[in-house]
Amino acid sequence: MIKKRSSPADAKKARLPEHEGHVSAFRARSKLSFDRLVEMGRKMGMENPLFACHERAAKATSLINGKEYLNFSTYDYLGINAHPEITDVVTEVARVFGTSSGASRLVGGERPQHRELEKCFAELYGVEDCIVYVSGHATNVSTMGFLFSARDAIFHDGLAHNSLIQGARLSGASRYSYAHNNCDDLEEKLKSHRSAHKRAVIVTEGLFSMDGNIPDLPRIVALKKKYDCMLLVDEAHSLGVLGKTGRGVREHYGIDSTEVDMWMSTLSKAMCGCGGFIAGSRELVEHLKYGSPGFVFSVGMPPVIAAACRKALEIMLREPERVQRLQRVSKYFLQYAKSKSLDTGSAQGYAVLPILVGDSMVTGFLSTALFKRGIYVMPVTFPAVQEGTARLRFFLSSVHEEEHVRQALDAVAEEMSKAQSLVEQYRREHE
Ligand SMILES: Cc1ncc(COP(=O)(O)O)c(C=O)c1O
Repeated sequence: MIKKRSSPADAKKARLPEHEGHVSAFRARSKLSFDRLVEMGRKMGMENPLFACHERAAKATSLINGKEYLNFSTYDYLGINAHPEITDVVTEVARVFGTSSGASRLVGGERPQHRELEKCFAELYGVEDCIVYVSGHATNVSTMGFLFSARDAIFHDGLAHNSLIQGARLSGASRYSYAHNNCDDLEEKLKSHRSAHKRAVIVTEGLFSMDGNIPDLPRIVALKKKYDCMLLVDEAHSLGVLGKTGRGVREHYGIDSTEVDMWMSTLSKAMCGCGGFIAGSRELVEHLKYGSPGFVFSVGMPPVIAAACRKALEIMLREPERVQRLQRVSKYFLQYAKSKSLDTGSAQGYAVLPILVGDSMVTGFLSTALFKRGIYVMPVTFPAVQEGTARLRFFLSSVHEEEHVRQALDAVAEEMSKAQSLVEQYRREHE
């Protein structure tokens, strides 16, 4: 028998405690773009471009390591995080209820802020009821994972958010991904596969978080009816952004709210809190409240957060000029980017504005160069998007001014070719 000689890697593994060996193996297998971003940042003299610590509420500008940055990396679309009315209500609620719900609402009971918030969102979407979960991501994972099962089918947009995909996977249902924002492809997939399944759901976003474009919701509604499906619309980036008064994609198209079975949104974006909700029929909400694991087996949303989100919603409805300002500055971004020959892809000019760069490494270098110039915008690289479609993703808010947009895009245009040369040089030296 030939005895295998141990390699240096084997010898190292043998010296590692058991758990370190496992973790190192995970890391070695991982193709996370974040690892590469950190490495690139280091090469450009930055400690770590990720996990930057903001030293006050991040608005159009933010304070990081004592330096002021132009900020395009937060989802406070209406510029109301740290609004004095929100801070006041949070302080009052914390005095009476503390900061925790203490247990799952089902067993530990609720606080008035929970139902008040749910009623507000049911009313906003013109449906019977609403359930609020403690996390936006968990809302999608748990709702889809609980409602659907092996005999069912989930038809989702190819660029649907990770939480929707994870929920679909958890459910065990057959999963059909249709080409991004392509209703012809959706119809093809429905035609081919719908009849093989018991129940089916179509899943889309109100405003896509990667490309900043809007689905053809009226056509999706027609398809859902034609092929007898349910429909879930994730309003994470659409609530507070689309429609004259920020009521989302429903208001944008003027469609009847009952055409959609599940209106989902996170509360971490325009609502300045965290958590998520599903608004729909009373029967659906009751079913989720007694069964959905992310609700039943998870703590209730802290009452202070519920109160903060309710106040944020009140401010949004009272001051629609915030929504209109956001839409104006977003359209300006689109025009100005075009005037600088920057590629905004299929963005339609609503708060989420990508600048397509292409190469992941160039995008990483570019965002690091911008950070050094006092502009904070995060790169989105492979595997979050396909290689060749890496981008800088700008999130605008109603407190951004046209001057901020010009300053940032002038810098992007100036730094783009420098980043390309740096990457070429880096590749020559390392590959
Ligand atoms: C479309 C979409 N859905 C769900 C989520 C998850 O929400 P949260 O970050 O509030 O957990 C996000 C987060 O960015 C999102 O973009």
